[in-house]
Amino acid sequence: MFLLNGERRHCVDVSDRGFQYGDGLFETIAVYQGKPLFLQQHLDRLRAGCQRLFIPYPEQDQLKAEVKQLCEGSDTAVLKIIVTRGSGGRGYRQPDSIVPTRLLSLHPFPEYPANFQTDGVVLRFCQQRLASNPVLAGIKHMNRLEQILARAEWQGDAIQEGLMLDYDGHVVEGTMSNLFFVKDGVLYVPLLTYCGIVGIVRQKVVSLAQYNQIGIVEKQFDKTRVLEADEVFVTNSVIGIWPVKQLDQQCFKVGRITRRMQQWYAEARTEELKL
Ligand SMILES: Cc1ncc(COP(=O)(O)O)c(C=O)c1O
Repeated sequence: MFLLNGERRHCVDVSDRGFQYGDGLFETIAVYQGKPLFLQQHLDRLRAGCQRLFIPYPEQDQLKAEVKQLCEGSDTAVLKIIVTRGSGGRGYRQPDSIVPTRLLSLHPFPEYPANFQTDGVVLRFCQQRLASNPVLAGIKHMNRLEQILARAEWQGDAIQEGLMLDYDGHVVEGTMSNLFFVKDGVLYVPLLTYCGIVGIVRQKVVSLAQYNQIGIVEKQFDKTRVLEADEVFVTNSVIGIWPVKQLDQQCFKVGRITRRMQQWYAEARTEELKL
């Protein structure tokens, strides 16, 4: 199901700058009982991304009404919102007046085995690195070639996610998720000032840690720090929180802080869906 600029169609003009250059932003949102989870936080990040790229942010009430229209009646699904700079301009030069394209689409929720949540998943380090660009860091822009190349490094179902480093050897995030690890009761999370996406679940986990008085440190780490961790987990809007049971050759137990975080996140989700 699609809504393109408010209409039930899905054929985007080939001159659209999203198609031509990846000149746009997107959000991937979990939908439960027909309700998009943490919609406001996703729209806030979308707005921040639009501001960063100088794309006019669509009318928020209209966007919300369209989201509601698309999600109503569905049960569990994944909602994707794309906003591009629209068509026009000459080459990279933007048109004088920008008319953004907005595309909302609803997709089946991926069926991950339940034991990914309970027993954990297997990760690897990827060869492909993330380039540093503080202007593009944090936002969910449409240029994801690094993630696509990283994800192409492994096939099959034995490994669920790959971790990516920057060119200075700092661990940044997964190909589709943010990374956390625990050492001696403290939660550590990579700094995303130079690359990476500031995930909505990452923000939730950080605030849940602060609320529950778990010490949290945000900085740059190399891979040995992660391999020496007591607990590791990855997050995104669709998977929620997946504990990590193995990273390359290193095995981890699903620890106490990961479990508590999953519990608090589940409670926050339930609360949000009641609203
Ligand atoms: C590269 C990358 N980092 C982080 C995330 C996590 O973001 P969120 O928690 O908003 O889903 C994603 C989600 O797709 C991602 O693709």
